Amino acid sequence: MLHWFQNDRFPLYLAPMAGVTDVIFRQLCKEQGADVMVTEFVSAEGILQRDDRTRHYTDFDDSQRPLGVQLFGSDGVRMGEAARKIIDWKQPDFIDINFGCPVNKVVSKNGGSSLLKDCPLLASVAREVAKAVSIPVTAKMRIGWDATHVNAVEVARILEDCGMQAIAVHGRTRAQGYTGLADWDVIGQVADAVRVPVIGNGDISSGADVEIRRAQTNVKGVMIGRAAMTNPWVFKEAKHYLATGTHVPHATVEERFSFMRRHCQMAIARNAHMGELPTLRSMRNRLMNYTKSIPGGKWLRQRFSQIGSLMELEDIFAGYLEHQATHGHEHVVNANMETDVE
Ligand SMILES: Cc1cc2nc3c(=O)[nH]c(=O)nc-3n(C[C@H](O)[C@H](O)[C@H](O)COP(=O)(O)O)c2cc1C
Repeated sequence: MLHWFQNDRFPLYLAPMAGVTDVIFRQLCKEQGADVMVTEFVSAEGILQRDDRTRHYTDFDDSQRPLGVQLFGSDGVRMGEAARKIIDWKQPDFIDINFGCPVNKVVSKNGGSSLLKDCPLLASVAREVAKAVSIPVTAKMRIGWDATHVNAVEVARILEDCGMQAIAVHGRTRAQGYTGLADWDVIGQVADAVRVPVIGNGDISSGADVEIRRAQTNVKGVMIGRAAMTNPWVFKEAKHYLATGTHVPHATVEERFSFMRRHCQMAIARNAHMGELPTLRSMRNRLMNYTKSIPGGKWLRQRFSQIGSLMELEDIFAGYLEHQATHGHEHVVNANMETDVE
């Protein structure tokens, strides 16, 4: 049993998200209480070709443990070699295999969710990777290819037989992409069908959501993705709720600003070779995400969409406080009309 499931600990995973869950964001979420992290997916071939960019995606530091590196591919032997290479570099706590990615570029090469349609190939990928390494291997999957091919229970049993030590299930089919709702009935069926821990994933955004899913199913942990992008405090809020049954107040505007400032400063320090402007350009969407649910968030988003320096960030914060002092009541009215606060 992986140690982070022992004693009914019910870990909260930060979901792997390409372009989002980089080393900095993972650290920030860890500080908020995320228990287990998985890097964004990297291609086995990228690892084997010693591609610097791919290597960069797998970067982490010890404070983020337990951490898994997620691999995708369709050739189990090559993936096993890539997994060994990663272990030589970084010694992650586990290797995770992606059987869920819906993106055409990955699916067209038989990777990600396309393996759900080819169980023998899926089994060979899982078996070869498990055989190649001495650290635990886990898997992340969707519930099937489309609504007429929901085969999550069959796939999970195969993955368990092939040595996967935990299975994260995103309750959508490949055809759904990110639309519709995650099917927690199917996630529950998978959790009942295998002995290894199942981590439920899809549409969790609060402690109450975690509690409901825990009560309704036999999942041994949950994984949170998009909610963490807009509200990384979700881990702290969920832990507090699980421990006490009460809601902790949402992060204040000041807490949000200090989080945003820190995220930008860490990104600038890490990308010193790039310079401040390109780094902050790459931060624009991230910052805009953090304004969801702040009164007057639209005002902030308009400014963040142009931001180019840390000094501007401070000006925007100060401008926002002034703007709220004079126009805040309008936002409250707007909020009641659901036009300004999402
Ligand atoms: C921007 C983005 C990138 C993602 N990248 C990955 C990835 O690299 N590997 C993976 O297994 N899932 C990836 N996912 C899927 C998430 O891990 C997760 O399964 C999905 O968002 C559902 O969880 P949620 O409802 O909590 O967001 C990605 C999702 C998003 C939104």
